[in-house]
Amino acid sequence: MSSMLKVEDLHAFIGQFHILHGVNLGITTGSIAVILGRNGAGKTTTLRSIMGLVPKLEGSITFDGKELIGLTPEIIARLGIGYVPEDQAVFSSLTVAENLRLVARNKEARAREEMVLELFPDLKVAWTKKGKALSGGQKQMLAIGRALINPNRLLLIDEPSKGLAPVVIEKVIQAVSKLKDHTTVILVEQNYLVASHLGESYHLLDNGRTVHTGTMEELRQNDDLRKRYLAVG
Ligand SMILES: Nc1ncnc2c1ncn2[C@@H]1O[C@H](COP(=O)(O)OP(=O)(O)O)[C@@H](O)[C@H]1O
Ligand SMILES: [Mg+2]
Repeated sequence: MSSMLKVEDLHAFIGQFHILHGVNLGITTGSIAVILGRNGAGKTTTLRSIMGLVPKLEGSITFDGKELIGLTPEIIARLGIGYVPEDQAVFSSLTVAENLRLVARNKEARAREEMVLELFPDLKVAWTKKGKALSGGQKQMLAIGRALINPNRLLLIDEPSKGLAPVVIEKVIQAVSKLKDHTTVILVEQNYLVASHLGESYHLLDNGRTVHTGTMEELRQNDDLRKRYLAVG
């Protein structure tokens, strides 16, 4: 199995702070890989580093064999990597339709709109509603849908379950699980239940470094590991 994205011994520096101290990831095409770890472990910084949003990096990040370190966020996005940040940021005064069309890079996006609405029927119902009128779950689906409007082959999704009620989290799980037919996904989660439903493999971060990697089944069977790093039974 070949890795679509490979992160090797990644170090990230923000100002005077050395934030990442050796992150390693390998993501197989067509799968969902989960990055787990406590608050402050370096999950968001890892995604931001992949997108070229952290100015000082050492180590290596390759996408289809191409080195990403040193490229601008715009170029990285155009290679086919979509980023869904953790705050469900949608434009509050624009409708669902406008939010989607604003990010479309080419005409092909109209055809992809159909695909997005099939994946997220909730967005079809809310098509003419403004961002500020959407529920938390609808905002999250719009944020993910926006990243699918362009032909991205890899999506980085940061804590899609954050701040959502359990019934809504259930919907987000269903939505993300359907993404696999369309794209490869790296999912950051603090919620182990969400992670274990969706992920096939896991990468556990602690203090800015990768401390464990394996299949989700291995994590399910490793009570010690879950207790030590995730504070869940
Ligand atoms: N812009 C920044 N300036 C200084 N420290 C930062 C900055 N961004 C993140 N950090 C620190 O880096 C560490 C990792 O943060 P982050 O990647 O957001 O963790 P996570 O997403 O796993 O909660 C934390 O200790 C955080 O305080
Ligand atoms: Mg984070």
